[in-house]
Amino acid sequence: MREEILKNVKTSFIGKNIVYKSITDSTNNLAKQNLDLPSGTVFVADIQTNGRGRSGKSWISDNKDGLWMSILLKPDISPERLSCLTLVAGFAVLKALQYFVDAEVYIKWPNDIVIENKKVCGILCELINQDNIGTNVVCGIGINVSTDTFPDEISDIATSVKNACQNKLTREEIASEVINQFEPLYVEYIKNGFDNLVCEYKNYCITLNKNIKLVLGNEHSEGFAFDVNSSGELVVRCGDKTLNVSCGEVSVRGLYGYV
Ligand code: BTN
Repeated sequence: MREEILKNVKTSFIGKNIVYKSITDSTNNLAKQNLDLPSGTVFVADIQTNGRGRSGKSWISDNKDGLWMSILLKPDISPERLSCLTLVAGFAVLKALQYFVDAEVYIKWPNDIVIENKKVCGILCELINQDNIGTNVVCGIGINVSTDTFPDEISDIATSVKNACQNKLTREEIASEVINQFEPLYVEYIKNGFDNLVCEYKNYCITLNKNIKLVLGNEHSEGFAFDVNSSGELVVRCGDKTLNVSCGEVSVRGLYGYV
């Protein structure tokens, strides 16, 4: 796994150091336990026994059908300026999959990657708040690569790269390309913020120009999503109000389904 990924990595720091485990609870946890390793270290596992998703949900990854990886990053900027990093990570995966897959690939705001209206990748970015160690972020990426069937409860909303394209891609090929796409986007974001990236991000954002449902705990509201601003917020018209919705606060659904 490690050598296969390294072989195609063309970056200067992300993915230069790769920690591989055949089995671990969660590659995000593994990264958090290894904050002494250099920025750009990638943690990858065949199997996660406790894969974690957003909003405290679990992420099915107790199999070798997906790419389960986390990137440890030590950006030299304050945590308040990192709110778009999770969108940047999604953008990198989008570009990596576009490189391989014939089908149209989209981003469901903020960072689910969608093919044929189903989710193929989820991203969980975690900021580590510890005194005296600077800013550490773990960017966890889960891509369903060769999964044929999903459990009933998610079969309507989940897909895999294999379902979407005829080529038999390996997890390693996809990992290298995600790393190659991630680095330039990350460097640009840390240097100049999201301003120069937002325009292209919006071209692929399937949430835009749609009626959506915002879900915050038990509260639901409906609105029309019409923009993503340079702070990475989804701009939603709700009746006569315009809301700037930050990721992390809410989950977004299509009015009639997942997208
Ligand atoms: C989501 O809910 O959409 C986010 C899913 C993130 C899954 C990845 S798999 C690698 C990394 N390790 C984890 O435990 N979670 C992330």
